[in-house]
Amino acid sequence: MNHAIPQPLWSRVWHTVREEGLGSFWLKSLDALGYRRIYLLRRPLAEPILDCPTTLPVEVDWLTLEKVQDYLVFRPDASGHTVTQQLLKGDRCLVARHEDRIVGAVWGSSTRLNTERSLGRDLPLAAGEAYQFDAYTLPEVRGMGIAPALSVAWLRHLRDEACVDAIRLTFPWNEAALRSHAKAGYRVTAVVHCLGLGPWRYVFPLQQITP
Ligand SMILES: CC(C)(COP(=O)(O)OP(=O)(O)OC[C@H]1O[C@@H](n2cnc3c(N)ncnc32)[C@H](O)[C@@H]1OP(=O)(O)O)[C@@H](O)C(=O)NCCC(=O)NCCS
Repeated sequence: MNHAIPQPLWSRVWHTVREEGLGSFWLKSLDALGYRRIYLLRRPLAEPILDCPTTLPVEVDWLTLEKVQDYLVFRPDASGHTVTQQLLKGDRCLVARHEDRIVGAVWGSSTRLNTERSLGRDLPLAAGEAYQFDAYTLPEVRGMGIAPALSVAWLRHLRDEACVDAIRLTFPWNEAALRSHAKAGYRVTAVVHCLGLGPWRYVFPLQQITP
């Protein structure tokens, strides 16, 4: 259970402006009002997949049902039931361990664009596409290349499975994620616009970005 004391609004506003700048504050304000803008990142697997070395030694492996407990130690905010259901549904999770402790993870699916949380419903995935989501690195080991190393390991696996493109969705204000994904070769190729009111969501047609 998370016992964090909720911060007052002015404190959250000040934190966002100071740490992430006015642009990020503006996008988060629109998000709170129901307008959401998300980047679609694409990584063609025909392009070379170069190594992304980490500055912390890690071992990379798939999360199995038997190790869900390790995942919950890494992400105490996650629900064991949800994690188990995701694995049973066919979603996969690649984890990085340091001294036998999970320090980073990324999820993925080759069957669905798991956008329930960000867009209110899952979007269809095109043939040959695989989706990566929910990258997370423990705060104390961020900036050590763990997320890009996980991406690279997964991208090579997808290439061996004859997958054509890997895609992911990232909020425009998430500078750390954009930098991390770029190291693994992801580029912003489209923008998803979504309008929401309570449980209702409208997802506009993709706005492609020409390189
Ligand atoms: C996004 C995230 C997964 C990146 O993981 P990572 O293993 O730190 O990735 P990297 O080592 O490549 O670092 C990426 C960027 O994070 C920033 N960063 C560096 N040190 C950091 C630190 N101590 N704390 C926070 N961010 C840091 C830097 O901008 C870095 O880019 P740079 O190396 O070009 O300077 C991680 O920041 C995270 O878990 N964030 C919270 C969850 C999230 O936003 N997930 C993304 C969903 S799309």
